[in-house]
Amino acid sequence: MTISKTPENIQNLFNQIAAGYDFMNNLISFGLHRAVKSRAAELLDIKPHSRILDACCGTGDIAELIKTKEPFAEVTGIDFSESMLSIAKKRINTVNFISGDITATEFPSESFDIVTMAFGLRNIQNAEKALCELHRILKPGGEFLHLDFGKKNIFSRIFDFEAPVLASIFTKYTEPYKYLVKSKEIFPSPDELIKDFEKCGFKLKTRKDFVLGAISAQIMEKI
Ligand SMILES: C[S@@+](CC[C@H](N)C(=O)[O-])C[C@H]1O[C@@H](n2cnc3c(N)ncnc32)[C@H](O)[C@@H]1O
Repeated sequence: MTISKTPENIQNLFNQIAAGYDFMNNLISFGLHRAVKSRAAELLDIKPHSRILDACCGTGDIAELIKTKEPFAEVTGIDFSESMLSIAKKRINTVNFISGDITATEFPSESFDIVTMAFGLRNIQNAEKALCELHRILKPGGEFLHLDFGKKNIFSRIFDFEAPVLASIFTKYTEPYKYLVKSKEIFPSPDELIKDFEKCGFKLKTRKDFVLGAISAQIMEKI
């Protein structure tokens, strides 16, 4: 199936699947996504009172992990799906969750010490615009954590197969899960992404692969 990645379509898709999103993530990944997100967050140089933005925060996984790691950090989550955000807000009340499109935010330039984006970029029609915006709102020397699927291997193939099957059994939404598999198929590899990030004014600080590279984290520094 093809879902065109207009902001309206993507918003609708995540509004549709929001109620079952966490359950499905746990099921499809056998709970592994939580461990990977936690280990990726550990790569960040978070200090007490760091100002941190979780972009495309969804139901708040990364924001919650950061807040648990450093309770004094000032954490904001932004997402344009109201249904995903409402789950995040019910889950954590120490994070400031706001509704907005990450390609054009109202944050002043150089507002954040760290920005994170997990499993978000491949859903954004104008990824370059999103990256420029992340770069603008980061302080010089600040860190950008990007986390998403990486290498195609046995684990990613298992995901590709089971995601739509499990979605058809446990939810009413098979098509959105087929889209999510497709979006990952056409997403650039971590090596290509790093080059794209560099073109936007970042330099690579750390890269860490998980599940034999099926998921990859890149920590980029704003130069
Ligand atoms: C696959 S979910 C990832 C959620 C969360 N980061 C996680 O790791 O579980 C992608 C999220 O990106 C959000 N999103 C996609 N495009 C966006 C945009 N342009 N601005 C803000 N949020 C966006 C969607 O609404 C959705 O909640």
